[in-house]
Amino acid sequence: MRYLVTGGAGFIGSNLVLRLEKDRHDVTVIDDLSSGHFKNLIGFRGDFFAEDLSEMDLVATFDRKPLFDAIFHQASITDTTVMDQRLMMRRNVEGFHRVIEYALRYQIPVVYASSAGVYGANPSPQSEDQSPSPLNVYGFSKSVLDNVARKAATGFSRTIVGLRYFNVFGPGEQFKGAAASMIYQLYRQMKSGKAPRVFKWGEQGRDFVYVRDVVEANILALSARHSGSFNIGSGSETSFNVLIDTIRTALGLDLKTEYFDNPYDFYQEHTCASIDQAREVLGYTPRYSVPDGIRDYLDYLEHPGR
Ligand SMILES: NC(=O)c1ccc[n+]([C@@H]2O[C@H](COP(=O)([O-])OP(=O)(O)OC[C@H]3O[C@@H](n4cnc5c(N)ncnc54)[C@H](O)[C@@H]3O)[C@@H](O)[C@H]2O)c1
Repeated sequence: MRYLVTGGAGFIGSNLVLRLEKDRHDVTVIDDLSSGHFKNLIGFRGDFFAEDLSEMDLVATFDRKPLFDAIFHQASITDTTVMDQRLMMRRNVEGFHRVIEYALRYQIPVVYASSAGVYGANPSPQSEDQSPSPLNVYGFSKSVLDNVARKAATGFSRTIVGLRYFNVFGPGEQFKGAAASMIYQLYRQMKSGKAPRVFKWGEQGRDFVYVRDVVEANILALSARHSGSFNIGSGSETSFNVLIDTIRTALGLDLKTEYFDNPYDFYQEHTCASIDQAREVLGYTPRYSVPDGIRDYLDYLEHPGR
């Protein structure tokens, strides 16, 4: 098969690209390298367009080339602290418009990255029947992607599937810097001999999901029973204290946790994905428990290249 992966040099995109190539597919990447890195794609065998998707003419770019069998759209501003509303909306939504227009024109199925950010402060477990109530422009941009997808899917003969990822962690996220997962940040702190630091009293929890399960969800989404936007998480909440314990034990370190006051007026204390719909429509079942995912990830971080 021939696949197009936007954002393919990023954390999740590159894991997907390398998995698709391992499965002997032909993969083309579009990535402007704004937060991605070529090192994520060492071993990549396909073609690469270092372009800003929100300004690309996909029809002209891929004119006279064989059509793609599907598009995986991951490209996005992913730093949720970016507050330039116009920039966030232009890059994220306009990039998606271009993918959808191209897909509708050539009847190509699309799998795209949405986000748990659409739920904002909604009560946990977050489920797809809750109304979106994003707290930042990043989450808002993803809720607009879901709107665009819903409209485009009406009357379209192929599927458009959105995956509302929760907190993804795993190999390849290190180039995201401060936007990398809490698991990576805690690992870095502890590795450098510093005490792990979290808000008082570390009982806040998130639905963390290992990137290998996220890649699997993308592949399963190609055979979705119908279009829609579905939660992709582990389906469980893990507290920051449990993360610290798991990393500390795996690394054999004896560092006391440092708790400090949460400076935010509002803070989402708990997230947990309801994954019933993803199970039913995509056949998605996470293979990694969070501790198993962390151990697999630490093995990668501790022994790069193994
Ligand atoms: N990592 C998570 O926990 C998480 C959670 C929810 C949703 N998501 C979504 O998953 C997708 C992948 O995120 P990630 O964690 O791999 O982040 P990432 O920043 O590593 O990947 C995004 C990639 O898109 C590229 N990109 C950004 N804007 C672009 C543009 N206009 N044109 C071309 N390329 C562009 C970046 O260079 C980067 O390589 C994103 O859509 C993100 O919003 C991620």
